[in-house]
Amino acid sequence: MSQDKLWGGRFSEPTDAFVERFTASVSFDQRLYAADIRGSIAHATMLAKVGILDARESEQIIAGLLSIKNDIEAGKFQWSVKLEDVHMNIESALTERIGPTGKKLHTGRSRNDQVATDIRLYVRDEIDELLALIRAVQQGILGVAEHEAGTIMPGFTHLQTAQPVTFGHHLLAWFEMLERDHGRLLDCRKRVNQCPLGAAALAGTTYPIDRELTASLLGFDRPTENSLDSVSDRDFAIELCAAASVIMVHLSRFSEELVLWTSSQFDFVDLPDRFCTGSSIMPQKKNPDVPELVRGKSGRVSGHLVSLLMLMKGQPLAYNKDNQEDKEPLFDALDTVKDCLKAYADMVPAIKPKKSIMREAAARGYATATDLADYLVKKGMPFRDAHEVVGKSVAFAIRQGRDLSELTLPELQQFSPDIERDVFAVLSLEGSVNARAHIGGTAPAQVKAAISRARAKLG
Ligand code: ARG
Repeated sequence: MSQDKLWGGRFSEPTDAFVERFTASVSFDQRLYAADIRGSIAHATMLAKVGILDARESEQIIAGLLSIKNDIEAGKFQWSVKLEDVHMNIESALTERIGPTGKKLHTGRSRNDQVATDIRLYVRDEIDELLALIRAVQQGILGVAEHEAGTIMPGFTHLQTAQPVTFGHHLLAWFEMLERDHGRLLDCRKRVNQCPLGAAALAGTTYPIDRELTASLLGFDRPTENSLDSVSDRDFAIELCAAASVIMVHLSRFSEELVLWTSSQFDFVDLPDRFCTGSSIMPQKKNPDVPELVRGKSGRVSGHLVSLLMLMKGQPLAYNKDNQEDKEPLFDALDTVKDCLKAYADMVPAIKPKKSIMREAAARGYATATDLADYLVKKGMPFRDAHEVVGKSVAFAIRQGRDLSELTLPELQQFSPDIERDVFAVLSLEGSVNARAHIGGTAPAQVKAAISRARAKLG
């Protein structure tokens, strides 16, 4: 009994209904349809070029595949669990449409190299979308950073006020994280962009195929080197998921800051209402839901990374059905990171800093204490001694309930005779940020220079 399966020849009883459902992947791998059809068209073109199919057969196959693609996109295609996966659904529809020639498409190919190719094609497009989305977020960051190049806020370590920085400078830290994320994706793309077609089931094929041709038709840089490796490893998906996880960790950290900063305790920034929701019981609430969700979703993406790693670790060469489990985590990771980047691309330009509150917070936290120590060092005092002098000055100011810059010259001089009238320029917030005037420093002029370098990079 061959049932209606494409592989039914050696079977004598139908598949158990539960097993059919359990082993099927069509519910989630149908999203590979465009990649699958593109791969099949390239395969058929190559088969005709080397004389395995004749020109008419390959034309018929290609026309049939394109009509299937149209139907899928018009929502008119009937997917069947009985046909297990996207590959067999499409192949069997092809034969239904064009007759026995459809059965020749799978010559010199296996679902193993087919699915490996499909995922690589799919993932390559996704990487390109991610790259563009990262650029969009970065452009938004540069716009706000430019506007806020001189806006003073407290910089933190241990979430305690440390030294004054500018908001523009703070934003550029986010830019740099995304810049590395962009680089990681580009790097991963190189390893994705190799063509497994021709590896067939695992050992290659006996037909005189032209793998270089198939690879170039699909826009791959080259065919993969080893047939066993080609059908088996999903390290490119793991790598991409790792890059996606790092992006999500970065977005999660941005989110944490936005959540803190929109709280009434910080009150540093305002997020437009469209990124927030209210409470059903507390009428005063405006909750930063979008950043909170992004923060929450970062866990989900790292979870998918771990799923893929665990999926791979016990598999002997070459293809194993385990690999069918790569799709849901991979797809969900990509969907999630794309959504989060979209949210950020929209949200970042809308972040409105509350400048006077930020400034006041920087002024309140003895943020220029290091500047006073540096001032004393420049007058010849060893840094450790200067640290001690400033520690005592801060303790005095705390007792007085005043900032360092509010102490009088004689008050400051009790701690060191080296302190002179010029100290007040150093103790000002502007003096402090302007003094950090080297590459990567927070001086507004440096922030502006960093923005032009960043703009030049983005082109
Ligand atoms: N649906 C399968 C997957 O996702 C396609 C490859 C199946 N190959 C096989 N030999 N059963 O991996």
